[in-house]
Amino acid sequence: MTMNQNVPSYTGDIAAQHVDPSQEYSTENQELVFSANQHAIWADLFAGIHQPYLLEHLCQEYKIGLELLQLDPHQIPTVAHLNECITPRSGWHIERTVVRYTLADDWYKKFAQRIFLITDYLRTRDQMEFTPEPDMFHDIFGHLPFLTQEFYARIEDKFAPAYMNATQEEREVIKRLAWYSTEFGLIVQDNRFKVFGAGIISGRKELTRTIMEFYRLGRDNVIDFSRPVFPQLQAHFLANKNNLHRIIDGVNALHQKGQMSSADEGWNVVLSLYRSLGIAQEGMFGGDVILIPFDIETIARIPKTVYAFNPMLFVCESLEQMDVLLDSFLKPIALRK
Ligand SMILES: [Fe+2]
Repeated sequence: MTMNQNVPSYTGDIAAQHVDPSQEYSTENQELVFSANQHAIWADLFAGIHQPYLLEHLCQEYKIGLELLQLDPHQIPTVAHLNECITPRSGWHIERTVVRYTLADDWYKKFAQRIFLITDYLRTRDQMEFTPEPDMFHDIFGHLPFLTQEFYARIEDKFAPAYMNATQEEREVIKRLAWYSTEFGLIVQDNRFKVFGAGIISGRKELTRTIMEFYRLGRDNVIDFSRPVFPQLQAHFLANKNNLHRIIDGVNALHQKGQMSSADEGWNVVLSLYRSLGIAQEGMFGGDVILIPFDIETIARIPKTVYAFNPMLFVCESLEQMDVLLDSFLKPIALRK
């Protein structure tokens, strides 16, 4: 395997960002003045994703929420507007933070109070397709349509009580469960794969890559969309579990060496991994991303993924099933004395 000297070293660890507390927003100064250029970036990001041929692959609840949130395609919304649309419907509050990437411990303390943090940072022109850092477009456009709805509030409500009560090892698993559900989750609706995770929805590159895989699975006869799709995905998973776990172990090793830092580098690295493991690029391994049923044991094996390229996405049979699966891990921890 060749190693590109220019690949930034990525280990999945987030360095704590030290912010002067006097710089943090107070309840009185939540609103910011954005430049015309920033509003224009927002408008282009919005238009890039708000396309019928992309929206049709997003889950129903997202589209309902997007209507309820009444986002202006041309203007970054105010926090007041977001709260007017969200708080009466789900009880959650939006708060602005100067922290670029809030550490999980602080994040879940806010979550426990039903406060969802949004950054004050908007990506720049050269990051239109992909940003490794979650910016306010990700926070607002990706997550907040869901927070207008009680079911999402209920899913988000599960994480904090478990996280606060969890051991360090369990916390790592909880972060991954959140990552592969609310950030990068897929579900089945109308017997089609649909995008649920905010990380995919808010990134045009990630979104198109995912949708391409939906089409490829049909084209390569991996999934027959005239029959129920989830049992077929499950059958592929069970038949290939051993190879999947070998890939995950390989990816873990690559993460530690800092080789999974961007979509382009990441995918080349995964392909080399396939070759070195003798795994043919076909069937469920034939695309640019691997779709796998939401299996907690498998998810728990995956390394820290923040800022990194995601080689796998996990699919729940429905939102109800996501609820049940998350509960099966989170509830016993939350209820533990
Ligand atoms: Fe997010």
